[in-house]
Amino acid sequence: MSSGDADGLRDLGRLLTTKRYGRAHEHHDVIGSTNDRAMQWAREGAPDGALVTAAAQTGGRGRHGRPWSSPAGGDIYASVVVRPADPPADLGALGLAVAVGLREGLPDVPGLALKWPNDVLVHGRKLAGILCETRWLGRRPEIVVGFGINVSRTEFPAELVDTATSLHLVLGAAAAPRPAPLLADVLASLEGVLDEFLPVGFAAVRARYEPHLTMLGRRIRLSRSGSEAEVIAEGLEDDGTLRVRPAAGGDSYTVSSADVWLGPGAGE
Ligand code: BTN
Repeated sequence: MSSGDADGLRDLGRLLTTKRYGRAHEHHDVIGSTNDRAMQWAREGAPDGALVTAAAQTGGRGRHGRPWSSPAGGDIYASVVVRPADPPADLGALGLAVAVGLREGLPDVPGLALKWPNDVLVHGRKLAGILCETRWLGRRPEIVVGFGINVSRTEFPAELVDTATSLHLVLGAAAAPRPAPLLADVLASLEGVLDEFLPVGFAAVRARYEPHLTMLGRRIRLSRSGSEAEVIAEGLEDDGTLRVRPAAGGDSYTVSSADVWLGPGAGE
């Protein structure tokens, strides 16, 4: 382990079992956003699977432009460059496939579930978040798959105290994994899942996503483009979009992007 690298991420290479993911790797003690650096590296020609990690981010970003709390102290902030040769028509479901990769790469955690489209929860609290960003070069996408996993944190900023958790908090200090071996497991899982998803689309991973989506059949609140709606989550379409029905009655419709709040029990 390098000095100043308490998480062991600089030496990730010796733990990797992947073919491509993480084989080219940059680690930063502090960076603005690993997603931004990975996109810049992609523009400079980074290979498929190139990985950027950081011990801390000063400008970590979440979905819908929200900040992602990213202090130093044993959590994972990682971004992978993904270059599909022939992307599927439903590439928009990529985040759902990434959620499968994260879930399957994590240790067994009681209460682990997925929230559409791509949050990983434990008993309704957020354990990990995913931010996929795409730049199109003609018909070929250059993608950055970014994810943050709360591994070692025991304290959160006031605005997250009621909604976030970490592996340390749910498993206890002794059973919580160290960041580097955990990231090696997650990368192996992610590479396997995306190698199945990218040539085919959501159909290839649906059976590994849907059973963990606890909100189906339940009442949820949707927020899209500034408007909110109380709906029942009915199911998934073949391309991973969510089919919902207004709770007050009316026709079903599908949503491809939204913020979702779960009612009682829907995140269990
Ligand atoms: C979300 O749930 O809103 C997505 C959070 C994604 C956070 C990760 S941390 C590593 C990578 N770099 C970023 O700036 N964001 C992603």
